[in-house]
Amino acid sequence: MNVLGEQAEALPEVDPQRPSVARIYNFLLGGRHNFAADRQAAAAARSAMPELPAILRLNGQFMAEAVRLAVEAGIDQFLDLGCGIPGTGTGYDVARRTLPAGRIVGVDLDPVAVVHGRLRTADDPAADVLFADLLNAGAVLGSPPVRGLLDLDRPVGLLLVSVAHFITDTDRLVAALAGYRAALAPGSLLALTHACRKRLSPRVDQVRRVYNNTTAPMVARDGDETMPLFGDWPLLEPGLCTFKEWCSVSGRRGESDVAESAFLAGVARKPEQ
Ligand SMILES: C[S@@+](CC[C@H](N)C(=O)[O-])C[C@H]1O[C@@H](n2cnc3c(N)ncnc32)[C@H](O)[C@@H]1O
Repeated sequence: MNVLGEQAEALPEVDPQRPSVARIYNFLLGGRHNFAADRQAAAAARSAMPELPAILRLNGQFMAEAVRLAVEAGIDQFLDLGCGIPGTGTGYDVARRTLPAGRIVGVDLDPVAVVHGRLRTADDPAADVLFADLLNAGAVLGSPPVRGLLDLDRPVGLLLVSVAHFITDTDRLVAALAGYRAALAPGSLLALTHACRKRLSPRVDQVRRVYNNTTAPMVARDGDETMPLFGDWPLLEPGLCTFKEWCSVSGRRGESDVAESAFLAGVARKPEQ
């Protein structure tokens, strides 16, 4: 298989004039895989919310914390939904640092994220990147990379980190997450972060206006709207809460108050049946 994978022909052309959430995120974290339009959109988002890079750094810290919790619980395989462009502390980077031999499948619908993910994993037989819409849980779970690399009879670390707020169709999002949760073995973990409407108000509307002109509009949700993504999986301590609480639990470096409370973050475990 070449580095672009068996589905290379299915990748859509990239429009460099249209900012993409994957490339904006990459730029805000110091990455180089972005175009002028992405950098302009990032600048507009950052001027509406100067804490944005700090929020994303905290998001990366949480990702590392969630992967560490999963590895400590004996999990050695990950499904990273909305995996983004590797190299700035995304799921693949963190999983490889924490668990050099673990299996990881990333899923993204951004062609630049998929191409860079496949280039990054080309020499890594335990990792692959699938070009797919994560909302199609059945197709993702039945795909060759997932079937070939992940053993769904054993616990999986399911990552949905800084992704759900780019999916506006709440019903489809909740239904897709129910599909993933049902397919995974007891002991699996779901780690997610989500932009919090209450905490980001009123500036979130300015940021949303920026993202409305990108590949994916943004929707901030509150805790009661985010909880259904976990279904009946009990949350680990400290629950669904801000980065501030996660920083104090993990003893990691904090950021400003606004940055620390902008996102909700949580990890839940599938109970034994
Ligand atoms: C802000 S980035 C986060 C990347 C990574 N999860 C992290 O936290 O470092 C969001 C990613 O989700 C992807 N994404 C958004 N909606 C998606 C969908 N419906 N299916 C698959 N990927 C999606 C975007 O293309 C982008 O790469």
